[in-house]
Amino acid sequence: MDLDLDQHLADASALIAEAADLDALGALDTELLGRKSVVTEARRGLGDLDPDRRREAGSRLNDARAALEGLLEGRRVELEAGERTVRLEAERMDLTELDRGRRLGHRHVVTQTWERLEDLFVGMGYTVAEGPEIEDEWHNFGALNFPPGHPARDMYDTLYVDYGDPLSTLLRTHTSPVQIRVMETEEPPIYSIMPGRVFRSDTADATHMPVFHQIEALVIDRDITFGDLAGTLEAFTTAYFGAGFTSRLRPSYFPFTEPSAEFDIRRPDGSWLELGGCGMVHPNVLRAGGLDPEEWSGFAFGFGLDRLALMRHGIDDLRELFRNDHRFLSQF
Ligand code: PHE
Repeated sequence: MDLDLDQHLADASALIAEAADLDALGALDTELLGRKSVVTEARRGLGDLDPDRRREAGSRLNDARAALEGLLEGRRVELEAGERTVRLEAERMDLTELDRGRRLGHRHVVTQTWERLEDLFVGMGYTVAEGPEIEDEWHNFGALNFPPGHPARDMYDTLYVDYGDPLSTLLRTHTSPVQIRVMETEEPPIYSIMPGRVFRSDTADATHMPVFHQIEALVIDRDITFGDLAGTLEAFTTAYFGAGFTSRLRPSYFPFTEPSAEFDIRRPDGSWLELGGCGMVHPNVLRAGGLDPEEWSGFAFGFGLDRLALMRHGIDDLRELFRNDHRFLSQF
């Protein structure tokens, strides 16, 4: 065999060391070890040799092949490490700003809305109450004057919890059950707001989420009238949105208020936004809360907190509030 294997290895070694990237190295791999490579062709020639020389030449070829494989592998590891470094460098994020405390996190836009509303009502003399998110059927419906099988229950796509008797336990569909819990635990006069998370089996879209937030208000005192309700909503509207905004009431129906109304907010451009429901607390609800309707009267209202946040900030898709994309949330 007239092949100078040592020279071939030396040449190959230089080529491998010069391979600039993994593609070039792949091409070299084929050239040095593939079907048409020097070592493969030499192996084919072994058959012509006599047995002794064949054994000796075969073993030298195997060594050469192993040496080439080692060189190629070594260079591959080197190139890969280099490419990883380049990639890491390109994806590198500058976190040093966090260290300087210049941009600490801030409250979620829904939490900001929640806290602003609390501040506003606390400023008007209200207390803040909360109730459980997993409710019993009595507080969510029964005590609020929805008798069993009452069609108004269908207004709410209720998510039931598999606990106790069938349909006895649910994720509250509104914050109104907290009205009952407040009446059960506090003596009137009551001036309370009840913010919280509520649940309905709605499909998520730009204006609906299966989980959202409401804020409820309950006032129970002597001689409370519908005029007090309208005045309170108007005062709230200007305090929250500013002087250019007003509110209106439209007749509506809720089992737990009588009379009932929807209330809308009028924006300075003249357009209306439907915000929530309200009305005078139904005598049956006062009784369910342990109060005498002859002695006490009151009003209640409840509206969607998320909607308020959307409107205030000109956000057009409710789902954005729940996606937790930092780039979106950091704008507010
Ligand atoms: N709970 C009602 C709802 O979620 C809103 C409401 C609250 C209506 C208080 C009247 C009084 O639809």
